[in-house]
Amino acid sequence: MRIFIGVAWPYANGPIHLGHIVGAYLPADIFARYQRMKGNEVLMVSGSDEHGTPITITAEKEGRGPQEIADRYHEINSEIMGKMGISFDLFFRTSHPHHAEVVKRVFLRLMEKGYLYKDKMILPYCPQCKRFLPDRYVIGICPYCGYESARGDQCENCGRTLDPKELINPKCAICGTTPEFRESEHIFFALSKLEKRILQWLNEKGHWRDNVINFTKNFVKGGLKDRAITRDIEWGVEIPLKGFENKRIYVWFDAVIGYLSASVEWSHRTGKSWRAFWIDKNTRHYYFLGKDNIPFHTIIWPAMLMGYGELNLPYNVVANEYLRFSGEKFSKSRGIGIWMPELLSLFDPDVIRFYGTVNMPEHRDSDFTWDDFIQKVNEELVDKFGNFVHRALIFAYRHFGEIPPKNELDELDREALERIEKTKEKMEEYLDKVELKKAFAAWRDLVKFANVYFDRKAPWSLFKENRKKCETAINISLQIVKALAVLGAPFLPFSSERIWKYLGYEDSIFQHHWDESIENLPVGMKLRKPKVLYKKIVREEESFDKWNLIDLRIGEVVDVKDHPKADRLYILTVNLGEENRTLVAGLKNYYRAEELKGKKIVVVTNLEHANFRGVESQGMLLAGEDENTVAILTPQGDVKPGTKVQANGTYSDASEILKFKKFKKLKIEVVDIQESRVMGSQEYKIEFNIPKEWRGKQGVVFLDKKPLILHVGNVLISPEKKVMRGGKIR
Ligand code: MF3
Ligand code: ZN
Repeated sequence: MRIFIGVAWPYANGPIHLGHIVGAYLPADIFARYQRMKGNEVLMVSGSDEHGTPITITAEKEGRGPQEIADRYHEINSEIMGKMGISFDLFFRTSHPHHAEVVKRVFLRLMEKGYLYKDKMILPYCPQCKRFLPDRYVIGICPYCGYESARGDQCENCGRTLDPKELINPKCAICGTTPEFRESEHIFFALSKLEKRILQWLNEKGHWRDNVINFTKNFVKGGLKDRAITRDIEWGVEIPLKGFENKRIYVWFDAVIGYLSASVEWSHRTGKSWRAFWIDKNTRHYYFLGKDNIPFHTIIWPAMLMGYGELNLPYNVVANEYLRFSGEKFSKSRGIGIWMPELLSLFDPDVIRFYGTVNMPEHRDSDFTWDDFIQKVNEELVDKFGNFVHRALIFAYRHFGEIPPKNELDELDREALERIEKTKEKMEEYLDKVELKKAFAAWRDLVKFANVYFDRKAPWSLFKENRKKCETAINISLQIVKALAVLGAPFLPFSSERIWKYLGYEDSIFQHHWDESIENLPVGMKLRKPKVLYKKIVREEESFDKWNLIDLRIGEVVDVKDHPKADRLYILTVNLGEENRTLVAGLKNYYRAEELKGKKIVVVTNLEHANFRGVESQGMLLAGEDENTVAILTPQGDVKPGTKVQANGTYSDASEILKFKKFKKLKIEVVDIQESRVMGSQEYKIEFNIPKEWRGKQGVVFLDKKPLILHVGNVLISPEKKVMRGGKIR
């Protein structure tokens, strides 16, 4: 059988995080590797999603062109995929001209067949910026929950999808002007024409996961509405029609076609046939994605394929739930989560894959915590799996140097062989249903048994007492090692490959069939000297230790009141993205209330709460001071409330309350930035690539083992007015 695997294309506007890996790329890769080992022909593709507002917004924030941003993250994310062992046949990109060709072909064919038509739309237009505003570029009050900075496409507070027209008091996100609503001509996809066929097709999807089918049925309940598939934007695939030169194809319409364009490109580069995968009916199409991508893969893309005709539809759409980080959803735009470049600099990819599978959010959200990560890896992967494999291999290597004979089996030996077969069957049953966590649980059970077997056999005493029995014990132990390597290969490809070499094989384990997990090892095959598979994780208390005590986030002052009982204090209401908090601040001698309103500030969000004359302060804002002034810290660019502050590119993973006493011991200073050297109360060398634009400005340095400069992406954190260098932050 042939298997096509499409994995959701990550936006090239930032490095992917652990949530993306465990939600889509890792499960897809496990499935792909398993299918290949079963002897099936697999084509697995994905690529960078480089168009649309996610990219242009990042580009504008950083003052760069969209292609430059997309180039940067395409490279970074391709590298991450490689390092994580995600075995794509092609990781393509939507800015490639060959992609645009396929998109245009699909567009024109849908048009020819009557599934696309022109119509007028009323859209927000900014008279100041002289342009139509994409939904995300309009900000206003959410009509449902009253949240103040809801985006035109969705309210981040209550989660509802919105139309910019619904926003109360809408504003252009770039310049703050109130937009007008103007008419503009667009192309619509006639989803309504395909509704019947989609519903019929969905009825055959009894094998889909509950979350996917339920979400989809809910989505189609009210009927399918036609959708605009073009936008007033300059960044995207051109529309192959006269009169549409200033518009582009909508990013989602272009991105899903990537599955096809990448297949065609793969065909082009390898000489193999993409038609075998897309037209031949003996091919199953699987898609892997996070749950927010469900409707695009279960309705829109299938409808496009139906409209186009003759191409294979999805057989299964495997959507995972979310991995949360200390209770919050991972979010690229808000800086919450664990970033892959950082994670890969610390851990072996199989360590990440192990934990990612054990904690995979297959049916419900799961939580990532460092404690759980370290515990699971140390207690299971290192102590159970790594240890068993090493004990068996090193004993065999030292005492026999080759695979010893099996001799006569006792009951425990026979049980071991039976267990191997049972494990294989169970894993197949689950892997075929894409229940990866359950399949891996079966493998983990075999690891547990392996340790029991080895201890009960105690080959170290058998070696002197009964050589033949010792040979048997080691032969069977190595047989388990082999089974674990083959059956574990889709999950832990790097470790399996290493074990394979230690067992004495010359070629790659991936050239072997899944069924070889239960075949006898060749007696007499020479073993290689094994190395320890994994090292235990020791918590690094050394570097960045103080930085990890404090959680700093960007807040926006939404309200300022006088403290009724204290002359110098204000009571501020601060928007922190997901919540508003009350802060009491002694700023009255330095700032007027109007000056503070609307300001972006830096808030210590995990500080113990304190009572100031009857008012509770739920955190603290940071300001720099010298003998004459107090200047609050503020980001030098547009940053969303709730975004975490970085120090030398690193996010703090503070999860505990910070005591006031401890906070007072932290040293934070105002500095003048020269180059990589900055001047505070003394000169500091910053080991971080300081952008040119920061030179000559004032910044803020957190003094840890190494001095760390505070920022959010490319946006520097500075005191709002000039403060003497070396000025303390309080
Ligand atoms: N870029 C989208 C996201 O990150 C996913 C696109 S999936 C695609 O949500 F395959 F349609 F491109
Ligand atoms: Zn504007």
